[in-house]
Amino acid sequence: MSRIEARRDEDTAVTGDLVARLRAGLPAEAVVTDPDVTVSYANDMASFCPAGAPAVVVLPRTVEEVQHVMRTANELRVPVVPQGARTGLSGGANTAEGCIALSLTKMDRILEISPVDRIAVVEPGVVNATLSRAVEEHGLCYPPDPSSWEMCTIGGNIGTASGGLCCVKYGVTAEYVLGLDVVLADGRLMSTGRRTAKGVAGYDLTRLFVGSEGSLGIVVRAVLALKPKPPQQLVLAAEFPSAAAACDAVCRIMAGGHVPSLLELMDRTTVKAVNDFAHMGLPESTEALLLAAFDTPDPAPDLAAVGALCEAAGATQVVPADDAAESELLLQARRLSLTALEAVKGTTMIDDVCVPRSRLGEMLEGVERIAEKYRLTIGVCAHAGDGNTHPTVCFDAQDAEESRRARESFDEIMALGLELGGTITGEHGVGVLKKEWLAREIGPVGVEMQRAVKQVFDPLGILNPGKLF
Ligand code: LAC
Ligand code: ZN
Repeated sequence: MSRIEARRDEDTAVTGDLVARLRAGLPAEAVVTDPDVTVSYANDMASFCPAGAPAVVVLPRTVEEVQHVMRTANELRVPVVPQGARTGLSGGANTAEGCIALSLTKMDRILEISPVDRIAVVEPGVVNATLSRAVEEHGLCYPPDPSSWEMCTIGGNIGTASGGLCCVKYGVTAEYVLGLDVVLADGRLMSTGRRTAKGVAGYDLTRLFVGSEGSLGIVVRAVLALKPKPPQQLVLAAEFPSAAAACDAVCRIMAGGHVPSLLELMDRTTVKAVNDFAHMGLPESTEALLLAAFDTPDPAPDLAAVGALCEAAGATQVVPADDAAESELLLQARRLSLTALEAVKGTTMIDDVCVPRSRLGEMLEGVERIAEKYRLTIGVCAHAGDGNTHPTVCFDAQDAEESRRARESFDEIMALGLELGGTITGEHGVGVLKKEWLAREIGPVGVEMQRAVKQVFDPLGILNPGKLF
C-alpha cells in the first residue's frame, strides 16, 4: 500500500469515527456526509477566499444537539466552522478541510417577543427579515438591516457584527444584543448578559462574542433589544456633479444636527450597474447619488432642510420620493448595488472600509485615484452617514493579470482607509479575506491580547480555525 493510500484509509477511518460519534447524539437527517451536498456548504459569498472540503455537515435543532457536536469535536480535535446563511463577504464561514460544518439554520425559532421588556429571544437561524416582520406585528422593530436581510440569519449577524442601511440612526447589531447563550468549545453552555434594560455585572462577554466570527463559541440563543416601530421612512434623492460634493453634503447634514434614518451614497459606476442590472431608472447623468431618509412622523421639514444643504453643497437635482412605495424602490436599488456591480465583469472584491465621516471625501477621491492607477472599474456604494464605504473592484477572474491588479487595488484601498484614521472593516468582518490586515490595524500588542482571549475560550483551536488572525 502506498503512503498516500494509507493516509487516505486513515482519513476515512477518522471521518467514519467522527460521523458515527456525531450520529450517536443527532437525528439521522441532521448529519450529512454526501460530498455533493457537503461541498455546497464550503463557501460564503466572498470571492477569492480559500475553503477546504468539510468532512460532514451537521444541522442540529436543539442546544443539546449543538453541545453534542462540540463535545465530539473537542474529544476528537476536529475543527468546527459555524455557519448561518453564508451570505458573509469575508470568507468567515468558509470551511476548513476535514471540518464539521455546523449549520445553525434549523435552529430558527423566535422563542419570545415581549413588548413590555422590548426584547425578542431568538435562535441563531432566524432570518433577519422574519424577525423584523414578526416584531412589527407588535408595533416594534429590530433595526439592524444588512442588504442581505431577506436571507441572512441573526446568528450570522451576531458573528460578523453586521450593520446595514439604518445604522446611521439606529446603530449596528452590537447595540441590540443584550444577552447570549453560547455553547463553548468543550460543549459547556454559558449564558452572558441579561434581559433587563440595564446591567453591568462582570465583564461584557456578550459584546465580546458579537463580531467574534465563530471563533470563541457557538451562539445558540440571543436576547435582542427592540425599538418601537417608527413611521415609514421617506427618501430624498440628490444628484451631485462629483463624489466630493456629495460627501460635502453628508458633512453638512451631520454637522447640522440632522438625524436621518438612512444616508447612502451610490457613485456613477454603481448607479449605472444597478440600471443595467435591474432597469431601475436611476439618473445616470450624475456622478454621485445621495439618498437621505427620515422616519419621523412629519419628515417634510427635515427633508426640505437636507435638500437645501445638498443644494448648498452643489447638488444639481434634489428629488423627494412621492411616497413610501417610491422610497422603498430607491432602497431596493441601493440594496442591489453589490449584486449589480458583480454583473459588470463577473467578479468583485468588496471592500468595507469605514472612515471618520469627516474624511469621506478624501476616501472617495483616493479610491478614484486607485482605480485609475490600476486601470480598473471600482464602483463605490457607501453608508455615507457612517463613513462606511464599499469600494467594489470589478474584474474578470479568468484574467490572471487583471485579478492581480484587483487584489492589489483592494489592499491599497484598505491602506488608504487606515491612513485616514479608519478601519479595514465596518461591518463585514475579517474572515480570511482581511487576515493580514487585522494585525496592521490593531498592532502586535492588540493581536497578542486577542490571541490570548481566543486561547481562553478555545484552547485546542478547533473553533473556526484560520480566521481573523
Ligand atoms: C451593503 C452590504 C454589502 O451595504 O454591506 O450592501
Ligand atoms: Zn454595507
